[in-house]
Amino acid sequence: MLADTALLEAFAAEVAGCTRCVLSETRTQVVFGSGPPDAALMFVGEAPGFHEDKRGVPFVGAAGKLLDKLLAEIGMTRDQVYVVNVLKCRPPGNRDPKVDEIEACQSHLFHQIELIQPTVVATLGNFATKLLSGSPEGITKVHGQEQHVDLGGSSVLLYPIFHPAAALYTPRMLDVLKADFARLPALLGVTGSVTPLPDAAPAAADETTQLGLF
Ligand code: URA
Repeated sequence: MLADTALLEAFAAEVAGCTRCVLSETRTQVVFGSGPPDAALMFVGEAPGFHEDKRGVPFVGAAGKLLDKLLAEIGMTRDQVYVVNVLKCRPPGNRDPKVDEIEACQSHLFHQIELIQPTVVATLGNFATKLLSGSPEGITKVHGQEQHVDLGGSSVLLYPIFHPAAALYTPRMLDVLKADFARLPALLGVTGSVTPLPDAAPAAADETTQLGLF
């Protein structure tokens, strides 16, 4: 674990100076990620927002507070999970990530996964889900359905979940989020034998409500 910590810190220092895309011109700082380097559970969000850009830590705004609550409901805390984003720098005005920005940034995420080696990667919302699943299927269709994928050189359990911001816009989404979070402990415990639950996707929700409240 010490070696992982040192490697992750060295990588964070390297990424802190990244100028691969135009977001480096407007960011306050790179938001690398936070959590223990040996976390079994990694959350992947979309991009830093205003508060994350200022503090240099992911999910510290309103969506982050809801993430903390959802974790508390399954008996977990932020200290136990590693949290990252698809983009490491804030898009101006919290606009959606652009394709070229995702392409420029994605190897940072893949290397983080390689170093941390989580057993479960929970993608929050469409951008992270589509990138890591390699499929165009949207979050409304695939949330709550785990699948084994090869990421960062090893097999991980990919578990798509709605972005917490979705429930800030559409309160009925909270029940869907809670139901999907409720399966996380089991997924972390039985990663070798899980099978997708085709009926585990409750109410349809509008994918366009995912974004913006960062
Ligand atoms: N804050 C983050 O760090 N990421 C998101 O996707 C939303 C809010």
